Amino acid sequence: MKKFNDKKALKHCLLEYKNKNKSIGFVPTMGALHKGHLSLIKKAKEKNDVVVVSIFVNPTQFDNVEDLKKYPKTLKNDIKLLESVSCDVLFSPSVEEIYADKIVSKKFIFDGLEHQMEGKFREGHFDGVGTIVNALFEIIEPNKAYFGQKDFQQLQIIKKMVKKKNLAIKIKGCPIFREKDGLAMSSRNVRLSKEQREIAPFIFKTLKKVRKKFGTKSVSEINEWVENQFKKQPLLELEYFTIAEEKTLETAQIKESNKKYRAFIAVFAGKIRLIDNIRLKN
Ligand code: PAF
Repeated sequence: MKKFNDKKALKHCLLEYKNKNKSIGFVPTMGALHKGHLSLIKKAKEKNDVVVVSIFVNPTQFDNVEDLKKYPKTLKNDIKLLESVSCDVLFSPSVEEIYADKIVSKKFIFDGLEHQMEGKFREGHFDGVGTIVNALFEIIEPNKAYFGQKDFQQLQIIKKMVKKKNLAIKIKGCPIFREKDGLAMSSRNVRLSKEQREIAPFIFKTLKKVRKKFGTKSVSEINEWVENQFKKQPLLELEYFTIAEEKTLETAQIKESNKKYRAFIAVFAGKIRLIDNIRLKN
C-alpha cells in the first residue's frame, strides 16, 4: 500500500494511474476502522482498478470539542486492516495540509437536507462534512466514492453536492454493517462502557419494532411509543426519533403510498452519541 500525507505527492501518484486509464474508487474515513469500513473498501476493490482510502479526523464537522478530542485514533492498526483488504493507497494528511492556517468550513446549501435531523442538533456539521469531502474530491478526483448508510443524511447530502457541483463522481451508498447483536458499527462504539455496550443494541431492536408497527400504526402513535420506550432506559437518552421521507429527509406527519420512508434515531449513551436508521415499508 502506498501512503501519502502530502496532497501534491498523492495527486502525482494518482495521475499516473489515470494516465493508464485506471479507475479510482475512494473511501473517505476518519480512521478507527472497523468491519463496516472494510466492507466499503471491499466493494470499492470489486468495482475499481485502484482504491484510495483517506483517514482524516475533520475538526470542522465536530460541534463538540470533547467528541473531537476523544475521537479514537488508531492509525497503526488501521494500516494493518487496510493492508489486509489490499487497499492500494492511503491518504492521511495533517490538519495543516488540508486547512493551511484557517480551520474553518465553507457554507453549503443542500436544498434543505442540511436543516433536518443531524443538521438541527449538530450546528455546522454538514458545512464541515461538505468542506472536507469536497476538498478530498478535488485532490483525488475519484470515479466512484463509497459511503455507509448509517450516516444516511450525510449520504444524501454528498449526492446533492455532487449533483449541484456537476461532479463526475458516482456516489455509492452501502448497507449498514452491524455487530451480531444488531448495534450499528461505529468508530465511537469503542468508547462505550461495558454497561453501555450491553444496552446499546436496544436502539436497533426498537427500530426493528418500528418497522413492524409502521404497517398498522400512525406516525404520531409510533413517535409516542418510541419516546416511551426510551423513558424506561436510564442508560440511553433519546435525542431525536423521526420518520422521514428518504428523498427530502422531511419529517413525515402522515404516510403517503408513493413515498419511501426511513426511521432515524440519535441516542446518547452517557456522552457518546450513537445514530442509526432503518428503511420502512408502507
Ligand atoms: O463519515 C465519515 O466518517 C466522515 O463524515 C467523512 C465522510 C469521512 C468526512 O469527514
